Amino acid sequence: MMSSYIIEGGKRLEGEVTISGSKNASLPIIAATILNPGTTKLYDIPNIHDTQITLEILKYLGCKVKKGHGKVEINSKKITKTDIPEHLMNQMRSTVILAGAILGRFKEATFSYPGGCDIGARPIDLHLSAFKKLGINISEYSGFITCKCDKIIGANIDLDFPSVGATENIILASIYAEGTTHITNAAMEPEIVDLAQCLNKMGAKIEGAGTKIIKITGVQKLKDISYNVMQDRIEAGTFLCAAAITGGDICLNYRTPEHITPIINKLEEAGCEIKTAKGKVHIKAPKKLKAVDIKTMPYPGFPTDMQSVFASTLTTSKGTSMIVENIFENRYRYVPELNKMGAKINIEGKTAVIKGVKKLSSAKVKSTDLRGGACLVLAGLSAKGVTTVTNIEYILRGYEKLDEKLRKLGATIQLSSEM
Ligand code: UD1
Repeated sequence: MMSSYIIEGGKRLEGEVTISGSKNASLPIIAATILNPGTTKLYDIPNIHDTQITLEILKYLGCKVKKGHGKVEINSKKITKTDIPEHLMNQMRSTVILAGAILGRFKEATFSYPGGCDIGARPIDLHLSAFKKLGINISEYSGFITCKCDKIIGANIDLDFPSVGATENIILASIYAEGTTHITNAAMEPEIVDLAQCLNKMGAKIEGAGTKIIKITGVQKLKDISYNVMQDRIEAGTFLCAAAITGGDICLNYRTPEHITPIINKLEEAGCEIKTAKGKVHIKAPKKLKAVDIKTMPYPGFPTDMQSVFASTLTTSKGTSMIVENIFENRYRYVPELNKMGAKINIEGKTAVIKGVKKLSSAKVKSTDLRGGACLVLAGLSAKGVTTVTNIEYILRGYEKLDEKLRKLGATIQLSSEM
């Protein structure tokens, strides 16, 4: 089955939208429930493809998963397997963080090289070398990686790059370690803080999450808890940009504007008025945006996951914008699709130069990855005529009810599925 979004552009977005739970916080937090041999109740897990796959893997391992309205209850008492099947592993890259949790609990895990969005080489060397430092033996055989040890021993791990996934994997693997683990040059993303808060509520001892140095003191056991996952900062940023590109006026129900400071700053620089107060973020966009320059950086810098969405927002701004992508090497695959809609974007190495045009025109365009797909939806909202965005399976991996939420804001967008 192939699904598309059909969008009639030119509608100014207005109204209020509630931001869902964070995809990138949910995935490691679902993994963390493997460590507690009891029941964990999670609230605000978004109902999207990537969380569904992660829960499928937990069921395969032997966990009991109950889904209710806005709630997921996971019982990890009787886990019988420690391998992740290839067909599930292949569906997304972040399955690799399940390895840290399985290892932390059972001291062994087998998995294949992970899949995910095709946005450049996404090696897992930092994850594996950190596991080795924790005393875990690693062997590879025809595409499968087996990790094993008698016990996990706390260690000092200095990351060459503040990898989000590697930081999470080290935390998960060292919860029950003997002694203390120090991560230096750790990733500082809010999702890591959320994971640490959830694990600490379970009884783990993690200090320094959100800073460059994280200390994990091994504990003997965890306890049953319930936990509310943070809201999705990339979804929040996407809706702000959707308002910006349509000259709109919307209000987000979003409790943590401090997580999106660089996005708010850039939108203000582009001429939007933004006010934050009491769980709300209000944006009023001008008729025409101004060009701005962006460099993606690890948190608290401008997030790479907003790069394509922002590029699309700037296609119709006044002047020339320059974007530098510093995190992933192949994150401009959406550019030829935007150019099909009349955008003027040139890429050279990790830089994209966007010459603002008057208006985008409609076309049939294809999603190349999750955020690249979302950026085409935004382009469609502002373009003249009817735009079809195909291969939206990518978008459905990470956005909960995107079309429904946009319709509530006054957009004309329909999901169409063909067999
Ligand atoms: C996470 C996010 C993703 C976001 C990214 C950067 C999740 C599920 N995904 O991905 O949405 O775009 O952070 O903010 O949370 N690298 C290595 N070796 C490794 C690990 C990473 O070279 O072992 C490189 C990657 O190729 C990439 C860079 O480091 O160029 C950043 O990757 P990382 O921070 O690990 O991103 P993810 O955890 O995969």
